[in-house]
Amino acid sequence: MPGGTSVRPHGGQVALRGVVAMDGPSGTGKSTVSRRLAQAFTAAYLDTGAMYRAATLAALRAGLTDLASDAEIARVATGACMKSGTDPAAPTITLDGEDVSAEIRGPEVTAFVSAVSAVPQVRTELVARQHGLIAAAVEQGGGIVVEGRDIGTVVVPDAPLKVYLTASPEVRAARRGRQDAKAGRQTDLHVTLADVERRDRLDSSRRISPLYAAADALVLDTDRLSADAVLDRLRALVVERGLDG
Ligand code: DC
Repeated sequence: MPGGTSVRPHGGQVALRGVVAMDGPSGTGKSTVSRRLAQAFTAAYLDTGAMYRAATLAALRAGLTDLASDAEIARVATGACMKSGTDPAAPTITLDGEDVSAEIRGPEVTAFVSAVSAVPQVRTELVARQHGLIAAAVEQGGGIVVEGRDIGTVVVPDAPLKVYLTASPEVRAARRGRQDAKAGRQTDLHVTLADVERRDRLDSSRRISPLYAAADALVLDTDRLSADAVLDRLRALVVERGLDG
């Protein structure tokens, strides 16, 4: 498990102390910069979206659809045996011992994940698991970059650095299209844009832990910022706030 002052599990030059909370909708470059930031500072990395996706895959494998009740979804999703790897160089997630890192990015999971992640019992269970992983990473002075939708608002409201990445739906859909093409998935830009907008609506309007920027988050619009530029900004912030070392 990452963390600890004397052990430097993921290489890198300087250590991070504490939690960096990275929130924002999909397609803002969150995953890329979160992983690179963790690598730059010898920190762990947790992709909480992957946990909601794995819970969704468990629900799909149990034959559930969006017609299922919250209770049915909660029973399957909270009982799922999933394990999240926190190495930013190779983040993995397993379901019943099987690596499902690629499968959770497929269209079936993407279409259903907003519904599963809106179920209160699912959130309670996954947030508890996230707290366990975060505590393990920061014990003995270690650090972790945690990405999601509610990290700075709900999961770690006292995080010493909170960042909220945004970008226009068109730019985010184009980025998603490129990621899909890279992963060998054929997609239509109009369909991807409609899906991005649908998920924004669902994620921002749900009753429990909706997506919004914490009042004390630094908001960065990435429409015209490269990943390198965002990363430079974040590295400087980590140093300014005295979280390196
Ligand atoms: O980051 P992502 O696209 O892989 O996230 C998948 C879904 O999971 C997203 O539609 C919203 C949900 N999610 C959430 O509700 N809370 C989080 N902390 C992370 C993701």
